[in-house]
Amino acid sequence: MIENLFIFLTGISPKIKRNLWRWWYQLMAKSYQKTDWKFMNYGFSDLNLELNPLTLSPEDENNRYFIQLYHYVATATDLTGKKVLEVGCGRGGGASYVAKYLQPQEMIGVDFSQENINLANQFYQFPNLSFQQGDAENLPFADQTFDVIINVESSHCYGSMTKFVQEVERVLKTGGIFTWADLRPLNELEKLKESFANSGLIELKTVNITPNVLKALDLVNESKQTLIKNNVPAFLKNAFQEFAGVKDSKIYQGLKTGQIVYLSYIFQKK
Ligand SMILES: C[S@@+](CC[C@H](N)C(=O)[O-])C[C@H]1O[C@@H](n2cnc3c(N)ncnc32)[C@H](O)[C@@H]1O
Repeated sequence: MIENLFIFLTGISPKIKRNLWRWWYQLMAKSYQKTDWKFMNYGFSDLNLELNPLTLSPEDENNRYFIQLYHYVATATDLTGKKVLEVGCGRGGGASYVAKYLQPQEMIGVDFSQENINLANQFYQFPNLSFQQGDAENLPFADQTFDVIINVESSHCYGSMTKFVQEVERVLKTGGIFTWADLRPLNELEKLKESFANSGLIELKTVNITPNVLKALDLVNESKQTLIKNNVPAFLKNAFQEFAGVKDSKIYQGLKTGQIVYLSYIFQKK
């Protein structure tokens, strides 16, 4: 039953959808506080040399594919000296990668799970990095604050994508960049495109990265299965396998058959 949570929760009220996701992420952060789990995305693997070869320090190597998704999204623009916001930062792995490797002047990670924020604050201390609780649909920042906004595999949880995009537009500086990646079932694509089209953001690039994500899911399948086997109580195993997108999960099969697509978009504020 609980595993159906991860099939996008279509057809329920936005408020219930938001609350269910919040409950799930709070539960996960409370239940597993070890530092060996830093990322919650499906990863990205190079197929056609989309990425420049990425040199990582040894302690980051075992998160390579999750970091590569961040790298792919975040290097949509040069972040050197920029003020950058990540919405839906989870346990902070991606924001810490950006702060450590891509030289932003300031990197702020926001997540609506206070428990995730507590973990992120505990895991990472860089002078240009901070985390705070906040809601994607009501961002706790003044108009025109950021040069760049990053959003990785988080927006499928939001009650209203339209509200989120309006908030992004509001807190971005003129000329700022919004770089986004997430998955959607095919029947929600039109709605997603409408949310973007109704904003004043200019679309610079769209790529279907489903094959890259699928390849990463294949490569990390075994280690995820082991982690779940060793750490998750029996009654939550199916839910976790679905959430993690392991082989044969509905998410994995959906990506494989084309019923679910994983997209990246880059926008600029006029
Ligand atoms: C699949 S996780 C991805 C986390 C992170 N981006 C990563 O790749 O590791 C989705 C994240 O979005 C956050 N989230 C969901 N709804 C949110 C909202 N309305 N506002 C802010 N964060 C939200 C969740 O708490 C969760 O941490």
